[in-house]
Parts: sequence; structure tokens; C-alpha cells
Amino acid sequence: MADEGRKLEKRIRGLLRERKAILLAHNYQKPEVQDVADLCGDSLELSMKAAETDAEIIVFCGVHFMAETASILSPDKTVLLPVKTAGCTMADMITAAQLKERKETMPDVVIVSYVNTTAEVKAESDLCCTSANAVQVVNSIDPEKKILMTPDKNLAQYTQRETGRDIVYWEGYCSVHHNLTVEQVESVRAAHPKALFLAHPECSPQVLELADEVKSTSGMIAYAARSDHREFIIGTETGILHPLSKANPDKVFIPADPRMICQDMKKTGLSEVAEALETMEPVVKVPEAIRIRAKQAVDRMLAIPRDA
Ligand code: 13P
Ligand code: SF4
Repeated sequence: MADEGRKLEKRIRGLLRERKAILLAHNYQKPEVQDVADLCGDSLELSMKAAETDAEIIVFCGVHFMAETASILSPDKTVLLPVKTAGCTMADMITAAQLKERKETMPDVVIVSYVNTTAEVKAESDLCCTSANAVQVVNSIDPEKKILMTPDKNLAQYTQRETGRDIVYWEGYCSVHHNLTVEQVESVRAAHPKALFLAHPECSPQVLELADEVKSTSGMIAYAARSDHREFIIGTETGILHPLSKANPDKVFIPADPRMICQDMKKTGLSEVAEALETMEPVVKVPEAIRIRAKQAVDRMLAIPRDA
């Protein structure tokens, strides 16, 4: 790391101590941001940490819905999102008004919303899920009940396949994952015939058909660590290659497609983190009336044990 980077890292660690703050980073963040963080993880691990930390300030290096989830769980803490415009295009594919309208046409439906949604959408949902626990969340629902999953159609179809439940789904998707094609995976596989293909459930059903394992981002890290295989093709955002290689220095990780980059996840750098800690902005705070309702959906999810 260049001198400038080291100075920023030192400044950030100093400010974190001074302010009694914790720095959480998603597995897709830039390597230097992951390296300065107190904890890196997938959406579920980061929400669990946000729920249990004693720190007074949470600096969330990720995207807006993740910082909102931290605010939902820890209303008395200050949640900072270093770059205000870091959003999630999939979360923007559903609004609370649209969900309310759909609910009216489906009485008694149980609504399971991916954590990649706004707090307002969570407030209209019965349960949340992440990529790490969608199957367990759906399995926890009374088999007599009809289920609507939002907003990711790919995660919903994968969950339907794994649980055998009849799931109605929203037509949302993550373009970073949805654009990974069967042809691309097959060509990388042909070049690396011994590699296992690990895919994120946001990939299309056709791509998931090819996967040896379907995992959340942290699920991939844990799986690669315990596997006897040496080579892996990774079907998710390329930021994951950093923690994968760090945790498994003797193994080889090949991106399924090097174009799988989430621009929003890459907006945050060390200077933005330092500035957020200096100025204590931008703050993400969910209004209380929405928070209370959204928290019920998140709490129901957190009560279900995870399975990597
Ligand atoms: P994970 O919860 O698996 O880390 O995924 C979050 C995400 O946004 C995937 O695109
Ligand atoms: Fe959202 Fe996709 Fe980026 Fe994940 S990778 S934060 S789902 S846009």
C-alpha cells in the first residue's frame, strides 16, 4: 500500500478508537476498505454484528439498505454511510406503495423480502431473508401459506427449487449477477476443467443449474476453506476475490466474469471513510414509525439459525 493509503488507514483506526466506533465492510468493498474494517462479511453477518455491537457509532461500508438495516436494529447508535449515493439497483426495483398494492390482490400471503430492500418495503413485509438464509426462512413458514418473495426473482426461484414451496415472486433482479451467462460460465469452465463453480443465488436459474454450490458471499469463503478442491470459479461480484484469496492463500479463484462489478459497492474509498468519521456524516436514520414495523421482519429473520 502506498504511503498515502497507510496514513489514511492510521487516521481511520485512530478516529474509530476516539469515537468508539466500529467499521463494518461488505465482502464486495475495495480491498483497502476491507483491510481496515473491524469486521467483513455478508449481509446476514453484518446485520447480526450491527444488532449486537456495544459501539456507539457504526460506519457501514456497503450500500444504503445495509446501513438502514443497522439503523433499524440499533436506533440509539449513529450509523454512517460514507458515500450517501451508494445504493442497490435491485432494492430500487420495488417501492412500499407497489408492494401494498400487490398485497391487496393476495390476501393472507406471507411476504418474504430480501434484505436488499428499503426500510419502507421491509415495513410492509412479514419476514426478511438474505442469500445465506432464504431457504431456512421459507422453511420456517406454515406450509399452508402462500408466499410472495421480493424483489429478486432469481433468489425466489432458487428458494422455490430448494424448498419445493410454491413461491410467487417480484420481477426484480441484480444486473451484476443476472447478466452472467451460461456461455460465459461454460467458457471459463473449459479453460479450468478442475475448478468447482460457486455461484450466488442472485444469478439466473440457468447459471445456477451449472453451479457445484450456491452460496452467499461469506458462504463461499467458508466453503472454499473447508473444501479439498484447489481451484474455484466464482460467480459473484469480483470484490469477493480479495477475502477469498486472503482466507485461502494456497487456493486459486477465477472470476466467472471479470465484468461482475457493482459500481455502488466501489464508491467507498479510505478517504470517504476518514471524512465520514471526521464530520460524522452522512448519517442514515430510519424514521421510528417505519423502523418499528421493519424491525419485526428483520427480527423474525435473525431468530432463524444460519447455515453457511
Ligand atoms: P450477500 O448477503 O451474499 O453478501 O449478498 C449481498 C448482495 O448484495 C449480493 O449482491
Ligand atoms: Fe445490489 Fe447487485 Fe450491488 Fe448486490 S451486487 S448491492 S444486489 S446491485
